[in-house]
Amino acid sequence: MEIEFCGGKGRAMAGKREQPNKRPWWLWGLLAVLVAAGCLLFMCGGFPTGNEPAEDLPVVEETPLVEETPAVEEVPVEEPVEMPEPEEKAEVPEDGVTEETLPPEEEEPKPELPPKDLPLDPEKPMIALTFDDGPGEHTARLLDAFDTYGGKATFFVVGRNINAYKDVLKRAAEEGHEIGSHSWNHPQLTKLGQDSIKEQITRTRDKIQEAAGVEVNLLRPPYGAQNKTVRAIAGEMGIVLINWNVDPKDWQLRNADKVYDAVMNTVKDGDIILCHDIHSTTVDAMERLIPELRMQGYQLVTVTELLTAKGGEMVPGTQYRYRVDPET
Ligand code: NI
Repeated sequence: MEIEFCGGKGRAMAGKREQPNKRPWWLWGLLAVLVAAGCLLFMCGGFPTGNEPAEDLPVVEETPLVEETPAVEEVPVEEPVEMPEPEEKAEVPEDGVTEETLPPEEEEPKPELPPKDLPLDPEKPMIALTFDDGPGEHTARLLDAFDTYGGKATFFVVGRNINAYKDVLKRAAEEGHEIGSHSWNHPQLTKLGQDSIKEQITRTRDKIQEAAGVEVNLLRPPYGAQNKTVRAIAGEMGIVLINWNVDPKDWQLRNADKVYDAVMNTVKDGDIILCHDIHSTTVDAMERLIPELRMQGYQLVTVTELLTAKGGEMVPGTQYRYRVDPET
């Protein structure tokens, strides 16, 4: 068919159909050679058409394209995968730590330690931790514990101990703890004459004033011993007597675990707890008790805060052993 267009135009113009069959032999030979050459080139891959590079490119370039495309996609895919990882890490560690590390020992202390500067809430439980016989070599560590975990205490100090620990006593006052008198040299006041009782009170009061710069209106009589005479003298001097209703016997036990248990097993709202900061075992116990009591909801307050939080009065010459609520 194409032959008519190729070389036989001149003869086709002659008008006879049979003429194509009589085309010259060289025309058929040329055609065969061209076809053969074309097939050869095609099969050898050297045919300079647009198909070859297209075929080669798909093989060589499509592969890289296919690889690059996923490669490019994998990067962004990996990035978003990495993004959630840190988030998971932020969450998993907390859970992981809680589940893997804390559970065995500290599953119970779920409540968190309240902020240290919470204002006193009269409607919530509160107790007064009191420390006698100091200041001493362990008092500073006890102050550290309160500073770390929060809460305030009341220190009933022995006058003759103050000189050696003036700075500690001053620090206690500056950090919001209450300072009371525990006499000058720890005698049983009920066995003393009136003048001696007065001297025990005034001398210690003045020493505290000198060292810590605070006025003293609380007295814890040594051994808790008080009678009408002691109360009367205290009343004349504007002094309130403070004893206790919880005695973990830390001075006798000298064992932090037992002191801890003794307090935790008996403590309740409104209590005044007797302890002694001259014993390292007591301070050891406090380093656990202070945070634990606060986590359980107890406000660790001074004696004056405890007794007056619900509107109670502190009458000089009167003994208080725990908070007496007005309505009680
Ligand atoms: Ni004492």
